[in-house]
Amino acid sequence: MPVLPHSTARAAAGRTAEETVRSRLDKLRDARVVVTGGGGLVGSRLVALLQEAGAVVTVLDRMDAYPESGHETFGVARSGARLVVGDVRDRDTFGALVRDADFVVHAAAYADVAACTRRPDIAFRANVEGTQVVLEQTARFPVRRLVLVSSASVYGDGQPDVEGPQVFHEDQPLFPMSVYANCKLWAEHQTRLMLGASSGTEYAVVRYFSVYGEPQIPKPGSHSWMVPWLSLQARLGRPMRLNGGGVQVRDLVHVDDIAEATALALTEEQMAEQTVNIGTGRPTSVREVADLIAPYFPGARRIVTPRPEGDPLGGYASTERSRDLLRWQARIPVEEGVERYVRWLLATPDAVPRWLTEETPGA
Ligand SMILES: NC(=O)c1ccc[n+]([C@@H]2O[C@H](COP(=O)([O-])OP(=O)(O)OC[C@H]3O[C@@H](n4cnc5c(N)ncnc54)[C@H](O)[C@@H]3O)[C@@H](O)[C@H]2O)c1
Repeated sequence: MPVLPHSTARAAAGRTAEETVRSRLDKLRDARVVVTGGGGLVGSRLVALLQEAGAVVTVLDRMDAYPESGHETFGVARSGARLVVGDVRDRDTFGALVRDADFVVHAAAYADVAACTRRPDIAFRANVEGTQVVLEQTARFPVRRLVLVSSASVYGDGQPDVEGPQVFHEDQPLFPMSVYANCKLWAEHQTRLMLGASSGTEYAVVRYFSVYGEPQIPKPGSHSWMVPWLSLQARLGRPMRLNGGGVQVRDLVHVDDIAEATALALTEEQMAEQTVNIGTGRPTSVREVADLIAPYFPGARRIVTPRPEGDPLGGYASTERSRDLLRWQARIPVEEGVERYVRWLLATPDAVPRWLTEETPGA
């Protein structure tokens, strides 16, 4: 058997994996899928993938999560999916969309940890009340499966007796440390209690780790999303701030991988009634991300700033369940994902939001 050079072998392996995912997504051909939050970063990528697979997609989204042209950049309005601009809390609107659906992905959320802390009332309405309406209405109709989008934030700081970054397993005790995380944990339990075998609608819960990838732009006042934050600081000639030296880790999972895993969770048989991490299984520190970004911005500087109180050291995903139950593994290494992000940022001058250029650096 001829020995392929490393890069050729990798490309061939990549193609095989690609074919497998594509052929598995074929089960969604002509399926009617409602995606709440389909106008956001993750949702729009998922919608594009579902459309490619031949699904008939309807999006319900308020389309107001980003100032300026965020939603436009994500492009769901141009995707060919039906876009309904509205709130998931509107029973009649969501009910009318879900009555003929085969599948639902519930990704709509007030999806920023800091914003939820500042406005727990909005977090409650969007993430708790909104989820309740989605579950109630879904349970009324013969929907085959709902995928609930949850978050690794439900793990909090993980096991108190473990020092430093740790691996998060789906069945370990959960300690939500923020309003956002608590809403997600509530949504997980409520989904389990309202759907499942007795209701006739299956469910699966996916816990995303830290999502990144072009064309992601942070929201004002947010401190999540380190790849865009650090890249934008470097792009604007400002120092990249490493809180506490940047030793905190995240499991950075590219939005293309996230979209794939979520789409597969709709039909993978073993995912029924399961909760599964969606991550790479690899910890990356803030400092490592800064090191990956710096070479693209000559003169890029880093400064060490104090570590905010309560800033978690972070953790990374145990990937056994996603490998065994979802039959999925992330495919985009962080080096490649960060390079793609930075190249996109450099090629897209309009991507730098006005609110950020007007902000006092370091404020
Ligand atoms: N980005 C991450 O790192 C990450 C990590 C873990 C989990 N998640 C979850 O993934 C999902 C998608 O997040 P994202 O990063 O794409 O964020 P996003 O803000 O880009 O997308 C969320 C979308 O939901 C919509 N929305 C909010 N409230 C709504 C409501 N009441 N009715 C209808 N639409 C509403 C927003 O307009 C937005 O388009 C969210 O559930 C989020 O909590 C994201």
